[in-house]
Amino acid sequence: MTCALEINNLYFRYNEFSLEDVTMNLHLGEQKALVGLNGSGKTTLFKLILGLLEPISGSIHVFERKAERENYWEIRKDVGFLFQSPDDQLFAPTVWEDVAFGPRNLGMSEEEVEQRVEWSLDKVGMSDFINRPVNQMSHGQAKRVALAGVIAMRPKILLLDEPFAGLDFPMVSTMVDIIQDLRNEGMSLLYTTHNRFFLENWADSIAVLHDGKLIYDGPTESALQDNSINKQTGNWDELGNRMKRHRGVA
Ligand SMILES: Nc1ncnc2c1ncn2[C@@H]1O[C@H](COP(=O)(O)OP(=O)(O)OP(=O)(O)O)[C@@H](O)[C@H]1O
Ligand SMILES: [Mg+2]
Repeated sequence: MTCALEINNLYFRYNEFSLEDVTMNLHLGEQKALVGLNGSGKTTLFKLILGLLEPISGSIHVFERKAERENYWEIRKDVGFLFQSPDDQLFAPTVWEDVAFGPRNLGMSEEEVEQRVEWSLDKVGMSDFINRPVNQMSHGQAKRVALAGVIAMRPKILLLDEPFAGLDFPMVSTMVDIIQDLRNEGMSLLYTTHNRFFLENWADSIAVLHDGKLIYDGPTESALQDNSINKQTGNWDELGNRMKRHRGVA
């Protein structure tokens, strides 16, 4: 299988925390959930993949290109990243300008930029907000616009840090549909979530980080039968049932 993302024996250290010997692959078109308790190193791993942090040793390859400073811009063309909080992502005065920023940065013509903005806002159901100041939206709306800004660059790999956090049920449902849509178009997805329902229903595979170490990387089914992994993902049956009711599933 072709690897979208290949992480080998990665080491990284903050003062009080280290990622140790992380080896993990994301295959082309795969949807992998990265789970682990607060502070286990999920966001840190994302930052390393993006090249925002540099490893002590080990390597990350994105479509066989080494993730390092000199390849940063090439890597960013392939990898889109949705921050945990949309406040960290939206910065232009209006929705239009914010979503246009990425495509413009890729050097597209104004006509192409306009097409990308319209396509991605339509995809996330936010076309009506195109002229809205970015600071005049609800959290869920801002999150959708942030996602539009990411997909406007048509990345081949999407890293989503807690894409469902802070969203109400209709918005979660919409977000799930958007993500499935992107996946059907061939994007490879790596997302963090604390929500077991999404693991059970949407993840092909699960990688589990515990205190900076990868303790599991494999099929979802066997992960969810493993008690030590269950402790990391919690029991979300009730949320799952509510989601099913909302989505009209018996
Ligand atoms: N800039 C930083 N400087 C020093 N330590 C940091 C920094 N950022 C994060 N850490 C520490 O690194 C560890 C991993 O943090 P990280 O944000 O990767 O966790 P996480 O798995 O994403 O957690 P959460 O589920 O809360 O989002 C934590 O112990 C955190 O305190
Ligand atoms: Mg995090």
